[in-house]
Amino acid sequence: MSHSAPRKALSASGIRARKGGEPLVCLTAYTTPIAQIADAECDVVLVGDSVGMVLHGLPSTLQVTLDMMILHGKAVARGVRRALMVVDMPFGSYEASPDQALRNAARVMAETGAGAVKLEGGRHMAATIRFLVDRGIPVMAHIGLTPQSVNALGGYGVQGKGADAARIRDDARAVAEAGAFSVVIEKVPAALADTITAELAIPTIGIGASAGCDGQILVIDDMLGLFDAFKPKFVKRYAHLAADVGAAVHSYAQEVRARTFPAPEHVFTDDGAAS
Ligand code: KIV
Repeated sequence: MSHSAPRKALSASGIRARKGGEPLVCLTAYTTPIAQIADAECDVVLVGDSVGMVLHGLPSTLQVTLDMMILHGKAVARGVRRALMVVDMPFGSYEASPDQALRNAARVMAETGAGAVKLEGGRHMAATIRFLVDRGIPVMAHIGLTPQSVNALGGYGVQGKGADAARIRDDARAVAEAGAFSVVIEKVPAALADTITAELAIPTIGIGASAGCDGQILVIDDMLGLFDAFKPKFVKRYAHLAADVGAAVHSYAQEVRARTFPAPEHVFTDDGAAS
């Protein structure tokens, strides 16, 4: 009889209950091996639509499709045991109507095994969030800088400065009242993120926001220094993997050109010894 440990994943309501408690550790992941590594430390593993830029070389998240999110969601699910896995709804898959959002979010949940979806937008998405939540789909909201709206926002600048803070606070209240179990707040002034964190009964997850949020999230390829096309100011590099990979490829290329690879210990002989 097998006694393998049952999978005890965190649920959306478990994350919701962490409001004001120990900070939530959140990272993105797009593949099984990275999901396994992230799962060891993270409360939330997000299959972000940033996958389009960091893994597929796309110019923005606007070109990411539902099929891409589902494919990466399935890969991440194979690596996550404890964290709550959240999958981003990509641009164009949920904005038209609550019915469209439900149809596509249900596909994401059923085909990937995710515990929740994330979608971008504040007050104008509140009715859709309520519709999904009432039908059993936990929703993580995303306000402040919402990269899928880059064309409407005119770039990737800081949101909620000065008088615009009221708009972001209103968005935060609206998504919380609509039933979101948590909200990502991206690239807003720290004082505004702190105000929203104090005002909401659900956890705030900051990215370029404030250490006072209930949790933090980063794109894993950014913090590993693997994606170095550009570095947002709010990103801290905890490793420099692009440089490490470049150095490894350089060493290999030099050895191939010098015919010092493969070395004797890497080649087979015909003496019958097991290899
Ligand atoms: O797509 C993504 O990776 C995200 C995070 C940056 C929050 O939405």
